[in-house]
Amino acid sequence: KAGKAGASSCCQLNDLKRLPQCHMKLGPLRFDETHTVLINVRLCPFYFLSVLKGALPKKYIYLIGKGRDLWHSDFVKMPCSQASITSISEQAVLLLFQGFLREKEGWRLAFNYVFLCSQAIPLLRKGRSATITLSQYQISCLLANAFFCTFPHRNTSRPNAEYSGYPSINFNSLFEKWSERKREKLRAIMHYFKVVTDEHTQPEGLVTFERRCLSNTDTPKWKSCKETLSKLHVTSEGQIEADGKGMLQVDFASSWIGGGVLGSGLLQEEILFLMNPELIVARLFTEKLEDNECLIITGSQQFSSYSGFGDTFEWAGPYQDSFERDEWARLKRQILAIDALKFRDRTEQYNRKHIFRELNKAYCGFKRYHGDEEPDIATGKWGCGAFNGDPQLKAVIQLMAAAKAKRGLAFFTFMDKHLEQNLEQIYHLMVTEKVTVGKSSQDVKFSFLKFLYFIHVLNT
Ligand code: AR6
Repeated sequence: KAGKAGASSCCQLNDLKRLPQCHMKLGPLRFDETHTVLINVRLCPFYFLSVLKGALPKKYIYLIGKGRDLWHSDFVKMPCSQASITSISEQAVLLLFQGFLREKEGWRLAFNYVFLCSQAIPLLRKGRSATITLSQYQISCLLANAFFCTFPHRNTSRPNAEYSGYPSINFNSLFEKWSERKREKLRAIMHYFKVVTDEHTQPEGLVTFERRCLSNTDTPKWKSCKETLSKLHVTSEGQIEADGKGMLQVDFASSWIGGGVLGSGLLQEEILFLMNPELIVARLFTEKLEDNECLIITGSQQFSSYSGFGDTFEWAGPYQDSFERDEWARLKRQILAIDALKFRDRTEQYNRKHIFRELNKAYCGFKRYHGDEEPDIATGKWGCGAFNGDPQLKAVIQLMAAAKAKRGLAFFTFMDKHLEQNLEQIYHLMVTEKVTVGKSSQDVKFSFLKFLYFIHVLNT
């Protein structure tokens, strides 16, 4: 059995790197070919100074990037664009009059975007790495429009519709077919709007959405990788978002970012998006993720806390976010959305093609893009709930991708004590056998089965 201490054992949570202790040095915030910045940084002469002091002064959060509205297939089509003929959904109006939203503030927020988002928002299309940075205030205006269902051409699910490759963004599906789940979801959403419409609590920072595409040249030749395993902490207690604070937190995503957040889904991703509603705006511009792509969101704020999961989920009240901000005024929270494969037939996941797909997907997200000072990774049973994956196999895949990326891993088994023990044993075995990433991928199926067999023997 794995000993509790020693070089071949799992490490403590404190041994892993987190923000803000590991400080990522950022250059100036600039608009370039692949990075669209929707606020005008040049108009904020004291921008960096003020951020260093703690927060962006209120008047600067209203400053916007120069530009004009574009009714073009490469950009988000906006509600108040001259070309738009969309009318506001009756359901949203109804809700408004039911007093869910403070009338004046809600409308003001929705229409403010005309002034706050005058610059066209590019679409994050498949096959291209690209980044968008916008203010939390701009996000709240965009989400208010989504709430009122005003985004044009986004209310149809026809297969050949213009946005058929994008997730839905208008909230109409949230207002249809009332259920207890939706009531709890709306409590979280309404709390978000309450906070962002109150001038004392209005958020004042920026958020970055980065679509990363793993190129062929960056794709590892898994069989010849010489890396040995990185640090691993495994625990059946705690949760990614609370105990993995300051680490790169994995969102067990759908390729349609946000999954069923605007419907009745209430699994890890949907809950994450409800607690951090700014994430929902990614659905406005992020095309369905391909096998070699991921989305990283830096700076989103947590507004609510919750209890339960699925049917037992409940909104549990406000959350005071205490994260520090970086030089770009973003909260130091990083979320990595990677979508696992969904298996109807569980035996299919041991197929080499599928294993390499999952390795590349995880590596695309784990790979370092900004030097050595990036935090370690907080993850868990990625792809092992709704998507029916084998937790041991998926854990080894994530360990291999983390080893290749030279980053440590905190693995939260979500109360699964059995898996916690299994992973400690697998890790111990792999470290003492000096297994390299290449060695475990040589005959992937065989070596995984061998490990599973050892675990079986160890447990009986
Ligand atoms: N921290 C750690 N582990 C967790 C947490 C948490 N906060 N929440 C859940 N788990 P699942 P998938 C564990 O089913 O299989 C969504 O609809 C828990 O044991 O959400 O990748 C997406 O939009 C759970 O069973 O992930 C996708 O469409 C397990 O993690 C789809 O589900 C897996 O969580 C993704 O499904």
